[in-house]
Amino acid sequence: MVTYSDKTLATIVTQSHQAAVVFEKFNLDFCCKGKRTLYQACSEQQLSLDTVETELNEAINNTGSIKDHLFTEMTLTQLIGYIILKHHFYVKQAMPLIYSHLEKVAIKHGDRYPYMREVYYKFSELKMDMDSHMKKEEEVLFPRIQYLDKLSPVERLSIEVLPASIGGPVKVMEAEHDLAGTIMDNIRVLTNNYLAPESACTTFKLCLAELKEFEEDLHRHVHLENHLLFPRAIEMCLIN
Ligand SMILES: [Fe+2]
Repeated sequence: MVTYSDKTLATIVTQSHQAAVVFEKFNLDFCCKGKRTLYQACSEQQLSLDTVETELNEAINNTGSIKDHLFTEMTLTQLIGYIILKHHFYVKQAMPLIYSHLEKVAIKHGDRYPYMREVYYKFSELKMDMDSHMKKEEEVLFPRIQYLDKLSPVERLSIEVLPASIGGPVKVMEAEHDLAGTIMDNIRVLTNNYLAPESACTTFKLCLAELKEFEEDLHRHVHLENHLLFPRAIEMCLIN
């Protein structure tokens, strides 16, 4: 059995994306709190390290591949293309739908289940935050990274690249990721892990399934940006 206890959650997911499913099962946040080692994270959340490691080994080895080099082998421009196509596109499609379903549930069932009103307010806030966050990434930060990525190291030397032009926006984006992660964390707690009450109608159940899927996608999305894209972009500036 492979031991992962001294590796950080972010490293484990970066090397083997299949680990994401296991971390989500145990509510181990590998994006915003991804710098913790597996040992630290299990201790903090009072989880059995043995159990988590066994499941990690099963998930990773079941696919026949221990390491996933897909993302680390991409250029930064390719990685940005993937993030926009896979995650930003999903967020833009899914958020208005989830929002409209939540609105219906909050209006129809808010008296009996007041926590769904709270979920609706929190998700409305998140929707506004994400719209502006992705706009900043797509219009400011990503084009800067793509521009630098197209240059050779020698060409980068010939222009004035201020590390702050990448590092500053990255800090802001990371803080916004933390905020988004916290809002979804709150929503998960409010809904008791997206558990539908027995009397829940179809839209109610649909909302919870959609929110669960949204949180899972957000974790993968933030992981790619925080742990792969941003550090490599900052490193590219430092070479200059
Ligand atoms: Fe982002």
